Amino acid sequence: MALLEWSAALELGEARMDDTHREFVDCLNALGEADDQSLVAALDRFIEHSDAHFGDENTRMEATQFPPAHCHMTEHANVLGLCREVRQMVIDGKTEVGRVLARELAPWFTQHASSMDTMLAYWLNLDPAGRVEALRISQERQAQMQAALAAQGEPAAPMACGPGCGH
Ligand SMILES: [Fe+2]
Ligand SMILES: [Fe+2]
Repeated sequence: MALLEWSAALELGEARMDDTHREFVDCLNALGEADDQSLVAALDRFIEHSDAHFGDENTRMEATQFPPAHCHMTEHANVLGLCREVRQMVIDGKTEVGRVLARELAPWFTQHASSMDTMLAYWLNLDPAGRVEALRISQERQAQMQAALAAQGEPAAPMACGPGCGH
């Protein structure tokens, strides 16, 4: 059984990302269907895909100065690093760890696609003026929030992506 079925719920409306995400689902399902002998090869293919997939998103975030790029890029790096660690564990005979990774990647991707990638797709679909306006609204809201905190006597909170990002 496929670990993850492609569905309209995963469509982000940004053609390049959607094409890449279809490939992600194919690579993930191939990983889920691999037998013990082909598990490392399937992991290699999945890592090769993810390297290109995440690298392309990272490049586009940098090129368009996507505001929460750091948070998104950190998550990509963490997942890719984990996959490489697990690959070595599978080579060392811990096949089951590879199976657990494959199972966990399905809900991870659904969550990632519906949050960070959704925001990125929205951003990439904006024209330059739209991005300027989105930044203006974000900065205005952050300033309002800082002012509200200051009015309550709270120290100014540093602007960051949020917990877990590493900012
Ligand atoms: Fe993605
Ligand atoms: Fe992403």
